[in-house]
Amino acid sequence: MASYKICKIAIFASGGGSNAREIIKYFRSNKSIVVALVVTNNAKAGVIQIAENAGIPVAIIDKKQWANPQKIISILKTHEIGLIVLAGFLLLIPPFLIDLYKDRIINIHPSLLPKYGGKGMYGHFVHEAVKNSGDAISGITIHLVNENYDDGKILYQHSCVINKEMTTEEIAAAVLQLEHKYYASVIENYVSFKGLSS
Ligand code: GAR
Repeated sequence: MASYKICKIAIFASGGGSNAREIIKYFRSNKSIVVALVVTNNAKAGVIQIAENAGIPVAIIDKKQWANPQKIISILKTHEIGLIVLAGFLLLIPPFLIDLYKDRIINIHPSLLPKYGGKGMYGHFVHEAVKNSGDAISGITIHLVNENYDDGKILYQHSCVINKEMTTEEIAAAVLQLEHKYYASVIENYVSFKGLSS
């Protein structure tokens, strides 16, 4: 019988989950790339409802449990996860997971790294720093994850023009629009290029 490769994705998210929603939508009718699991550290995260609406299982793993490799690995194995996609996930990925999923963890960051990245630089903190800098552009970075925040190999960047009149919220909205537009297709290209499967 003919068989084809399937790559099952786990999306890790801590918040509202708008990127998770877009990624789920993008791959909904794709037979070879499947969003198979959503993992969150936040029992109140909006992403839980988004996953449930799409019929995708959710694992809620609180901060303490991240120190327990067996538990995390067992959840990922059970769901045959071949790629981890971070979408607004705020905990540092522990070294055991970096080793196990070498070059198979992708993150999106709402600035043009290496600018405005690192510990504590997430969400509105990033956009405030951009606003205060007076920079004429901002944008998105999609990159592989290593043991440091926002530090791994860059896969893709896309910029947008900003100006002094824009509020932090307006900058955030312009950048989020780019995230929604490009993240899923960059994931798709990466899976194809690397031939990833579960
Ligand atoms: C996104 O803007 C993402 O780039 C950012 O969190 C937001 C999550 O939004 N991630 C970081 O800042 C990581 N350092 P969402 O929950 O609506 O997808």
